[in-house]
Amino acid sequence: QHMYKLKNKKILITAGPTREHVDPVRFFTNHSSGKMGYAIAEKAAQWGADVTLISGPVSLSAPENVEIVRVDTAEEMRIAVFERYREADVVIKSAAVADYRPSVQYDEKMKKQEGPMKMEFERTIDILKSLGEEKDHQVLVGFAAETQDVEYHAIKKLQSKNADIIVANNIKQEGAGFSGDTNIVTFYHRDGTKKALTLLSKEKVAEELLEEILPLVNREGQG
Ligand code: PMT
Repeated sequence: QHMYKLKNKKILITAGPTREHVDPVRFFTNHSSGKMGYAIAEKAAQWGADVTLISGPVSLSAPENVEIVRVDTAEEMRIAVFERYREADVVIKSAAVADYRPSVQYDEKMKKQEGPMKMEFERTIDILKSLGEEKDHQVLVGFAAETQDVEYHAIKKLQSKNADIIVANNIKQEGAGFSGDTNIVTFYHRDGTKKALTLLSKEKVAEELLEEILPLVNREGQG
């Protein structure tokens, strides 16, 4: 029966963009709508998993039977993920997390000045990489949003982040990546195998991804 394939499994999913604030009115963000991550959360819940969705600011409502934790910045997302990491069986990082944030966040609105403006940014902590460093039993799934040399960067991310699967999408490809209802992905596994999918709805991609994860979860012999 396919309905309860993930029964009793704790799955942590991140979705959506983060916002990195400059001052009370301005922030840096990206085009993530949350659709990919929400589709995974919805499908995992349908398969009987115990799902927590850590979501950046998006306009989607929580899927049925999913616990939702709403966050804003990369740092808030990192804290929310790590609070729940130990008990998780699977972590899926579909969020588009900012790599940089403004070095200074002003309490008051910045005033216009004459001429051009320069701004300094600092790195945020790479959540996926930190999870990889502290991994024990968890199955760790990362995404790679690339615009070129997709396979090279996907395999590099698989290794450098100690992930079990990287889901790569070329965000320049028509029908793939941010915002739309479809995606075109390739799964890269640690053992060097890969599986390329054609253009599918994000719901169908979610289902394919969970099928791909299933043998790894069961191999861990939890419960
Ligand atoms: O939300 P949608 O509109 O449906 O769009 C879906 C999507 C394009 C956002 C999704 O398919 C996707 O590719 N998500 C990952 C986007 C991304 O940030 O990729 P990246 O290659 O920059 O990061 C690689 C991995 O590291 C990702 O799993 C990311 O969550 C993680 N990361 C990145 C930076 C950081 N500071 N911490 C992280 O954990």
